[in-house]
Amino acid sequence: MRFSDKVAVVTGADSGIGRATAVRLLSEGATVVAADVNHTRPWAEAGDKRLHRLTLDVSEPDAAERLEEYLRGEFERIDVLANVAGILHIAPFLQVTRADWDRVLAVNLTGVFFLSQAVARIMVDHATPGRIVNVSSVHAVVSEPNAAPYTATKGGLEAMTRTMASELAPHGITVNCVRPGATRTAMSEPIYTPEILGSLKAKIPLGKIAPPEWVASAIAYLASEEACYTTGACLDVDGGYAM
Ligand code: NAI
Repeated sequence: MRFSDKVAVVTGADSGIGRATAVRLLSEGATVVAADVNHTRPWAEAGDKRLHRLTLDVSEPDAAERLEEYLRGEFERIDVLANVAGILHIAPFLQVTRADWDRVLAVNLTGVFFLSQAVARIMVDHATPGRIVNVSSVHAVVSEPNAAPYTATKGGLEAMTRTMASELAPHGITVNCVRPGATRTAMSEPIYTPEILGSLKAKIPLGKIAPPEWVASAIAYLASEEACYTTGACLDVDGGYAM
């Protein structure tokens, strides 16, 4: 029960890695604010009073302000922010439109920036040794065709993580990334045709596609006291894909 008496905010908690993270933190004692633009999937934990579902579009200009107001109104302190919400837009570089680019940046980068700022302000005000965990992608470091805006956001996220980590270290707040590889979720499922799965597994030294729970356990580690001496880092959870 590493998260007893802790309050954690998880974005993208309706699905995939965000859902697995929220469930993992709940199972280890946390009170969890499960934030998502959609709330379509049922929760086995629906009756648990420690689960707070919040409708939040992280790309909206007022999202951070709304979240900060909600959190300050509901809780004494915030211990963890897991920025998991993300979108993938697949299109050849030559065909990406300004609207595609703006949308991916708004969710994957701008949303993370301002939500982290809002939550870090609460952590600083309450002198909480908080943990911020961002979700990057193996494609921040391994090239992937037809995903230029996505890969740009993940590379930017990693650079931003290091800057946030250095600025927040004097407050005892750590900021880290996990860098997942191929993970079976709603985002990846449409891409995983049998042929793609076969060639993907051949490129992964451990030869497996991850369930979202394997990424969630890395997020939970970085969000825990156990990771107290790690900041500005990126933890690969990719079966060795990027090595
Ligand atoms: P998913 O599609 O299963 O879950 C993403 C969640 O984010 C959904 O619940 C969705 O409603 C939410 N979301 C999307 N836009 C939002 C917005 N504007 N505001 C609030 N919530 C929003 O996808 P998955 O795979 O769980 O993705 C989670 C993170 O993991 C993403 O940041 C993704 O880039 C990253 N990732 C996923 C990999 C994979 O193979 N599935 C590999 C590497 C990274």
